[in-house]
Amino acid sequence: MNDVVVLNKKESIALIQIQNPPVNALSHAVRQGLMEAVRESLEDPAIKVLAITGSGKFFSAGADIQEFGKPSLEPQLPQICNAIESCSKPVFALINGTALGGGFELALSAHFRVATASAKIGLPEIHLGLLPGSGGTQRLPRIIGADKALKMMLNGQPVSAGEGLAYGVIDRVEESGELITASMNFMLETTAGKHPRIPTRERTEGLQDEAANHVAIGEHRNTWQKKGKGLYSPFQIIDCVEKALSTPFEEGLKYERESFARCLESPQRKGLIHAFFAERRCRKIPELREIEPRKLERLAVIGGGTMGGGIAVAALDAGLEVMMVERDEAGLEKGRLNVEKVYDRHISKGRMGPEDKKEVLERFIPSTDFERITDADMVIEAVFEEMEVKKEVFRILDQYARQGAVLASNTSYLDIDEIASVTSRPEEVLGLHFFSPANIMKLLEIVVPSGLSNEVLATGFALGNRMGKVPVRSANSEGFIGNRILGAYSKVAGYMMEDGTSPYRIDEAVRDFGYPIGPFQMFDLAGGDIGWANRKRKATTRDPRERYVEIADRLCERGWFGQKTGRGFYLYEEGSRIGIEDPEVLDIIAGERSTKGIRAREYSPEEIIRRYIGAMVNEAAKVLEEKVARCPSDIDVVQHYGYGFPRYRGGPMKYADMYGIRKIVEDIEEFSVEDPFFWKPSELLKTMAAQGQTFEDLNL
Ligand code: 3HC
Ligand code: NAI
Repeated sequence: MNDVVVLNKKESIALIQIQNPPVNALSHAVRQGLMEAVRESLEDPAIKVLAITGSGKFFSAGADIQEFGKPSLEPQLPQICNAIESCSKPVFALINGTALGGGFELALSAHFRVATASAKIGLPEIHLGLLPGSGGTQRLPRIIGADKALKMMLNGQPVSAGEGLAYGVIDRVEESGELITASMNFMLETTAGKHPRIPTRERTEGLQDEAANHVAIGEHRNTWQKKGKGLYSPFQIIDCVEKALSTPFEEGLKYERESFARCLESPQRKGLIHAFFAERRCRKIPELREIEPRKLERLAVIGGGTMGGGIAVAALDAGLEVMMVERDEAGLEKGRLNVEKVYDRHISKGRMGPEDKKEVLERFIPSTDFERITDADMVIEAVFEEMEVKKEVFRILDQYARQGAVLASNTSYLDIDEIASVTSRPEEVLGLHFFSPANIMKLLEIVVPSGLSNEVLATGFALGNRMGKVPVRSANSEGFIGNRILGAYSKVAGYMMEDGTSPYRIDEAVRDFGYPIGPFQMFDLAGGDIGWANRKRKATTRDPRERYVEIADRLCERGWFGQKTGRGFYLYEEGSRIGIEDPEVLDIIAGERSTKGIRAREYSPEEIIRRYIGAMVNEAAKVLEEKVARCPSDIDVVQHYGYGFPRYRGGPMKYADMYGIRKIVEDIEEFSVEDPFFWKPSELLKTMAAQGQTFEDLNL
């Protein structure tokens, strides 16, 4: 035996315990240990029952994800599951905590499953671009039928032990006490022949209603044909379950194995597992390892507009006490409504009752009086995006906030050092850049100006974690990580439009790449006026060599700011958020093109993506070069959680690795012939291409 699997014999019971923290992943050593423990227990005539369990909060979170992509070592998990299932002695899975993926499949191959009430079971492989590859697609439908099995595999969310019991996949739930002790009688009864030991492969309850199973397969397939564009594993999962219904177990198992191998090789699996580790890596900041964040119970939000309202809701949802300060009563009333309408919507959707809303709002204190912030642990400013307004607010914050309070700005672009400079405590001021709607979007850029205290930085991360956000560190540089990169590919979208490709075709190509919406739909959603004001502000300092597309200005001059005015790049019928193509917009574009004497060019979808992603990767490489982002995978996280980059493609940096860094550089060089000012390959990209490096090599 090894130290990650411990075998204890207690009278006639062999207790096999996985002890591989933090999550009891089924690494090679665990698999070896399990196999050996099963063999030894079978050989010992004194042992009548085997009980497999986990330790800590986990039964097992499944296969060791770190091992994917490396040569697979025996014994593999399917072999262990088969060995357990075919044991001549009864095998119990004592599910002491979370059992996911291969961990749950291990339990499925046991003859009996007992769980503690707080345990969770699930098959989340779909989120990693995989399928349950250790017999799960074959065993689970045999017990609970195709529909429930597919629901578990296709939504990937774990279910409670109670639900498992109702499904029939858990035999007993023990409400309290030590699981082993609580299950002792059940285990001993099997030795007396009271409960028959039926291998899962021989179970048939789930196969009885053939018609319902057939319908379920059809329905799930239809649903995924609509929503699974670009994905691979959902369709493989459905095929595997269909096989389970129609073929002998061994044949189904072989089919599952082959499908699993295909998923493992798919680019979607590579992208999704990259994303899994990227969103964990972004929270690991070496300089914060030993640093305790400050106390955080009371938050003050300055400004109750779009962002202030959303931030207040995010904080209330995280259990904080929230003060909101507005400049006057009218502003305050709007701020209060911005918060309340979120909870009213929850109530109308049946997600909460009026009592719950009342309870939450007891922690919400709106005011026009800055004195109210004196006992706040943190203050987040979300007023107009104007340096002078922000500075004025920070002077007041400096006056009223208590010593030790963290001061933050939610600015999208402005210099945090400059904002901090008006206070007597610049080392306590940082940027916390939320995304709209702030109570829903998970990205939080944490912007670090010079001289920031590590304790303050740690408190920013703690707030992000507490709100369930994905926090990413950014240096204090214009547009930080996300908006700066957005600026580059938005320009390219404009160039392509002016060159002669309809904005609607550009949006379509970007959606086909996997984004939920295209760039012009996004402009309409965000509101054209904000970008317009920004462009006007920068007009005098714009480099004359920069190509400037005036089409968006032409729309704004007409008051067409997008969804909020019913018209932008698209036309929105009364009350509708779905835009339709607008021939007048196409005329305006054609007019601009002819004014500049540009001959129309229709780019293919493939060309659109080469330019769009090329600009994104090039700017991202500059962001890395300038150390605005810590590492490439942080950029991937920002693009996914803030801007809709398809998760299954991993992020722009992972995509570039898979597409080829050299090819990216070649693309940029090809485009630079027409516009050398914009299309300058970053030095980092050129070096990487020359040295055969990937962005993955630069991850921390
Ligand atoms: N393999 C290897 N490492 C894993 C792991 C796994 N299956 N699951 C989690 N970890 C690691 C994390 O990377 C993290 O490492 P770090 O501390 O170095 O960053 C650590 O365990 C703790 O994880 P979290 O920070 O995510 O802890 P939480 O408590 O928030 O969440 C969890 C725990 C719910 C288990 C979550 O980590 C999770 O969802 N893990 C993935 C589970 C999964 O997808 N299992 C299926 C694997 S594929 C499979 O089993 C194939 C089979 O069908 C053949
Ligand atoms: P908004 O115009 O909706 O809200 C700003 C609010 O601040 C208004 O309600 C106004 O009354 C209030 N305000 C102005 N001066 C004040 C003062 N001196 N004291 C108290 N309250 C004052 O603006 P929005 O969209 O919420 O933006 C706020 C900040 O968040 C800006 O810096 C913006 O760049 C940033 N941001 C905006 C995003 C968006 O999508 N709208 C996304 C991320 C950041």
